[in-house]
Amino acid sequence: MFWLPLLLAGFTPVLPAASSDMPVQAARGKGIFFDTANKNHCSTCHEMEKQGTAVGPDLTKVGRLSPRAVLISMLSTRTVYVKEVELKTKEKFPAMIASENGNEIKLYDLSKMPPAPMTLEKSAIYAVRDNGTWKHPPESAGMSAEKLADVISYIRWVAFGDTKGVSPDEVKQ
Ligand code: HEC
Repeated sequence: MFWLPLLLAGFTPVLPAASSDMPVQAARGKGIFFDTANKNHCSTCHEMEKQGTAVGPDLTKVGRLSPRAVLISMLSTRTVYVKEVELKTKEKFPAMIASENGNEIKLYDLSKMPPAPMTLEKSAIYAVRDNGTWKHPPESAGMSAEKLADVISYIRWVAFGDTKGVSPDEVKQ
């Protein structure tokens, strides 16, 4: 079968279900991360274990910081990457720039949910400014400390194989 050489080469297929060595809390967090019943589910905008859409940043970097630091980065009203794009037509929207290539710019329009991928001619853009309006969803979605702890424990498990888990007390808002 075609996948056998891949398995022999150390390729592990990513399954939607939790793998057997994933701690129970991280597995619960994974369920929340990919919960399509919630329109703000994290995988609408973040990729983990090669699933989801990478609109927002790779969370395995921030996932190495303390649970509290991950929480603060999610709830911060000051964004680092999101920009406000104003077109020459005067239309303005918050955006995540995905790539630039010659005269073209690929971005996600964050005024849409799910964020809408767009390709623009650079000449159509009037200005790119710091974001002042877009807020990260979990804040408005009001997740409980228990759920936040579960999701952050999943991010930590993916980032560095953490099995200690996260106590809800560490991520109380
Ligand atoms: C609508 C899209 C969207 C959804 C849904 C979303 N995020 Fe994000 N997230 C972003 C964007 C965009 C950023 C970058 C913000 C900035 O400019 O600093 C971000 C940033 C983050 C950061 C900080 C990363 C860093 O390196 O600074 C964390 C942590 C995070 N998100 C976790 C989550 C979790 C957990 C969920 C689900 C509960 C979630 N996000 C849902 C779009 C989203």
